[in-house]
Amino acid sequence: MSARPTFDAYAADYQHKFNDNFLGKYQRARLHEEITPFLAPGLKILDVGCGPGSDFQFYHSQGVAVEALDISPAMVDLATEKAAALGLDATVHCQDFQTFTSSESYSFIILNFGVINAIADLQTALKQLNKMLAENGTLLIVSMPPFHLFSLLGFFWRGKFREALQRVNGRYAVLPNGFRFQYYRQKDFRSFFRLKKRIHLCPLLPNPDQYHPDRFSGKLTSHLIKLDRSLATRLPDWCGGDHIGYFFGKK
Ligand SMILES: C[S@@+](CC[C@H](N)C(=O)[O-])C[C@H]1O[C@@H](n2cnc3c(N)ncnc32)[C@H](O)[C@@H]1O
Repeated sequence: MSARPTFDAYAADYQHKFNDNFLGKYQRARLHEEITPFLAPGLKILDVGCGPGSDFQFYHSQGVAVEALDISPAMVDLATEKAAALGLDATVHCQDFQTFTSSESYSFIILNFGVINAIADLQTALKQLNKMLAENGTLLIVSMPPFHLFSLLGFFWRGKFREALQRVNGRYAVLPNGFRFQYYRQKDFRSFFRLKKRIHLCPLLPNPDQYHPDRFSGKLTSHLIKLDRSLATRLPDWCGGDHIGYFFGKK
């Protein structure tokens, strides 16, 4: 199964499942804080794999213009509707990033929340991003890394030892429909880019899928989130998280 039908199937439920989820919101808000210094009103940014326009409200609040693309027609429909509803200055293309060409270069490019993990030919994708990034520009890749404490605990809890090993060692996962995700970390990007900043999201907390709040876990999470926040920019890369945000510049 390819990326297009896989993400078409996610589209209807995406907002509810990931963006309205407490931990999903926390991760996105934390990233937005870090992104803000790189943006300025009128700047044109490129959002690769924009999904249903998850960051459009934020872009609108920053006054930036947006070129966005996504491989999934269902996601593009949602993103186009959202841009129109917000009055966001945006063009949304239904396009595979790997065949996207543009005469422009961008000062800020974002691949948010696991877009990169859907891309198997990483080196070609990085080459493409390097071409599109302006000389002093910033590229933000938010990647699911091989190590995430709670995902591994979840595998162990369910007796899925092979899947755990596959994620940490093989660095991939296969969805029930056969689509394969890759798990990437900092060293996978270093051939083209130099790191400006790294932010670990939920290294000590579950992922949005695992979070089903009751009184106990809600309380525990509200305490752990403070620790998670304060550790976010200080951990070594291998400590992982649900996602890691890598801010890169050109080498
Ligand atoms: C996990 S979602 C993230 C969506 C959004 N960036 C966000 O922050 O919520 C990954 C998105 O990447 C898109 N995608 C995957 N492979 C792609 C490709 N080769 N070109 C363009 N978009 C792609 C999917 O359709 C999906 O909408």
